[in-house]
Amino acid sequence: MSALSFAPLPSQTFEVRPLQGLVGAEIVGLDLSRPLNDEDFARIHRAHLDYHLVVFRDQHITPQQQIDFSRRFGVLQIHVLKQFLLAGHPEILIVSNIVENGQPVGLGDAGKYWHSDLSYKELPSLGSMLYAQELPSEGGDTLFADMHRAWDTLPQHLQDAVEGKLAVHSYTARYSEGKNAANWRPTLTAEQLAQVVTVSHPVVRTHPENGRKALFVSEGFTTHIVGLPEDESRDILDQLYAHSVRPENVYRHQWQPHDMVFWDNRSLIHLAAGTPEHLRRKLYRTTIQGDAPF
Ligand code: SIN
Repeated sequence: MSALSFAPLPSQTFEVRPLQGLVGAEIVGLDLSRPLNDEDFARIHRAHLDYHLVVFRDQHITPQQQIDFSRRFGVLQIHVLKQFLLAGHPEILIVSNIVENGQPVGLGDAGKYWHSDLSYKELPSLGSMLYAQELPSEGGDTLFADMHRAWDTLPQHLQDAVEGKLAVHSYTARYSEGKNAANWRPTLTAEQLAQVVTVSHPVVRTHPENGRKALFVSEGFTTHIVGLPEDESRDILDQLYAHSVRPENVYRHQWQPHDMVFWDNRSLIHLAAGTPEHLRRKLYRTTIQGDAPF
């Protein structure tokens, strides 16, 4: 063996345990602070595709380790609200309801409406990793809805009404509703507005890795269906939203300390179910860029 050869990284011993229902698996026994070999990475990637969401239990990693692990799945996206990026680590968006000295420490109303992360970009997010830093003693759950199942079970007349259509997504669709005393949604500068011009995406997209169709609209960012009169578009979108989040499509994540959840934004939409105002909640989010939806 030459002096330049390296010993292969050993595999870690970990389990992938499906959660109840069709969405989600927990990964137990894996330590993300240790380097991952290609075989372990491939198992995680497979689980992410099969279950659309994986929960890494009991992780103790630094912001840089979260970033490095996220980067193995693709290019990271930097959120437009620079105010809420972690100092020294702009790849991490702080999601938090905490206000210190009158200033919010993070984005307090992230996930207030069902959405797929960054669907308002030309290249929406492949997936997001949300890592618990501080959890409330009650509330603070995150809900995830399976948009493949939503499409598969959509009544035929609605499938016919939307297949082949485009819908417009806008970051500012609900923006003014987030303006409150805590100022979670500060006024955007001209530079920030230029980063979030509206885009159109197919209402029904095909997942580039599993080949399945999924509904790709959400109350958070979708404003209307292209080419339909406003009232018809509104009526169809409302029906799609109601159908997508039927209880049988939804997984509720009840956070445990040191969880990191990694979901597929091409398969799921999500919602922050809310935290009582007097309780603190803080999580770090990385977002991985995906392909142009087709
Ligand atoms: C998000 O929408 O990324 C945040 C979800 C949450 O805070 O539960």
